[in-house]
Amino acid sequence: MASLLFASMATSCCDGNANVENSDKNSVIETIMARRSIRKYKPGAVDRETMKKILECGINAPNGQNKQSWEVRVVDSPALMEEIKSIMAAAYPEEDPKRLTGCFRGAPVMTFIARDLSYDFSAYDCGLLAENMMLSATSLGVGSICLGSPVRFINDNPACAPILEKLGFSEGYELALCVGFGYADEAPDAKPRNWEKVKFVD
Ligand SMILES: Cc1cc2nc3c(=O)[nH]c(=O)nc-3n(C[C@H](O)[C@H](O)[C@H](O)COP(=O)(O)O)c2cc1C
Repeated sequence: MASLLFASMATSCCDGNANVENSDKNSVIETIMARRSIRKYKPGAVDRETMKKILECGINAPNGQNKQSWEVRVVDSPALMEEIKSIMAAAYPEEDPKRLTGCFRGAPVMTFIARDLSYDFSAYDCGLLAENMMLSATSLGVGSICLGSPVRFINDNPACAPILEKLGFSEGYELALCVGFGYADEAPDAKPRNWEKVKFVD
């Protein structure tokens, strides 16, 4: 199964990339530059086979001491997503429920990523896993969004504990990041980047 998955990834994640040196085009760079945060999605989940490829790319991210100090839960059931949102709405009665549950940006598939609290680099591991997932998603025509605000809502309020129980992370793990996936219904422009923050040091 693993080798089958790898074989299909080799063709789907890396198509066109074999001849980088002899080509003006570099599909990895093109994918990096094409990725944008998507906040408007078409209805319908990403199928599990495609999600498995994205997840396989995620867990192949570099990570400290190969501890793989993450756990990932994938929610592609609209009913479960509604349950999660209604727990959040009840936990934050003062918030406008639409604004609150809008923190998931309408992504039809939500991944919840938890970090191992016993490892000081686990937040970086989770970030790298998330980026690998988002880039592979882009290369497969799947939109994505990295989300911090649901993490705050869920971790900061004990009334959201049933959500964490449902997700079932291991003892010693804490929700660190959410990444949503789906088919984009918008094509946002790239946001400006500040080269002033980057310097070569002689
Ligand atoms: C750690 C992290 C947390 C983020 N949290 C949110 C969020 O809660 N809501 C949101 O709409 N976007 C969120 N984003 C997406 C950023 O706003 C986005 O990456 C940034 O504006 C650059 O735009 P781009 O991804 O299209 O290049 C988050 C991104 C990161 C890396």
